[in-house]
Amino acid sequence: MVETMRWEQGKLVLLDQTLLPNKIEWISCEDYLRVKLAIERLEVRGAPAIGAAAAFAMALGAREVADKPDFLGALDAVRADLITARPTAVNLAWAANLQYELATKLNKDDLPPFKIIKALEAKAEQIYANDIAINKRMGEYGADVLPDKAVVLTHCNAGALATCGWGTALGVIRSAYAQGKLQMVYADETRPLLQGARLTAFELYEDKIPVTLITDNMAAWTMRTKGINAVVVGADRIAANGDTANKIGTYGVALAAKAHGIPFYIAAPTSTFDFSISTGAQIPIEERQPDEVRRFRSEQTAPEGVEVFNPAFDVTPAELITGIITEYGVLRAPYVERIKELKDTLSTI
Ligand code: MRU
Repeated sequence: MVETMRWEQGKLVLLDQTLLPNKIEWISCEDYLRVKLAIERLEVRGAPAIGAAAAFAMALGAREVADKPDFLGALDAVRADLITARPTAVNLAWAANLQYELATKLNKDDLPPFKIIKALEAKAEQIYANDIAINKRMGEYGADVLPDKAVVLTHCNAGALATCGWGTALGVIRSAYAQGKLQMVYADETRPLLQGARLTAFELYEDKIPVTLITDNMAAWTMRTKGINAVVVGADRIAANGDTANKIGTYGVALAAKAHGIPFYIAAPTSTFDFSISTGAQIPIEERQPDEVRRFRSEQTAPEGVEVFNPAFDVTPAELITGIITEYGVLRAPYVERIKELKDTLSTI
């Protein structure tokens, strides 16, 4: 299984996902701004991976501001700057805020900055390790809801590359494969940046999990003709009513699944829930550079200067979602009640 990042001698080393599948190159981040840039450029991407990278970036940032008279104030500025890198995936703010809260608590206990930095490094390593464990638990719950001889369609990349390992949607697929109940995965290529073709097809193919690549506009026809019996995708932010933001195109896949009577599942850890927003209408949707649509890598594929709409995510309404697979089990409608129960459970842990 491919690795997305590692913490090496006080530096965050990231796999450059923009070069996959053609080249394996690593980026060594010595300061938090390099991690922020990597998040903006999608060198590291996928909600849980962004969260873990942000946790390490907070440790790097703390080191950079350790000698400031107002250490906590300076660290808060790092936090505020870091979370502007990408607006939709809530895991980014979740991890940065968690680290800042830890620093605040230790500062209150009169710990000097160098000890706080060590604690932030340890916490980031714990977030990283936990993410893999969470994904494996989610994978088991998800595999249970898939039918035997599962033929699964997925969109974007919610795999080992989008997390610290195993994956969310692809974690479910990996677990189903390990149980011998997976027949085939159809992977949407995921325009404009091809996370499905470059990343999902790559990691499943590498791990010898049966995968067939399709372009996005083939999804509905593939559902009709290839016996798709489940859709499983990841998430970037889930509102308190179950509305879910994920890679642009997910909403269309959910509509097509509904039309064909195919169950549509979201797989996401609890760090992807945003309990503070009541519906998906409040989720900020990132809009990216028009040239991502006008060009394919360096090649121009549309008139220079043509108007472009390039939202990186869309929101699938809760009523199209059959179930939300988490590390605590599978949530089903009514989502407002089930998500409120989840929030209450988390507050007691
Ligand atoms: O723009 P990206 O590549 O970061 O978008 C990623 C997705 O939309 C994933 O499906 C989502 O983050 C879940 S990853 C486990």
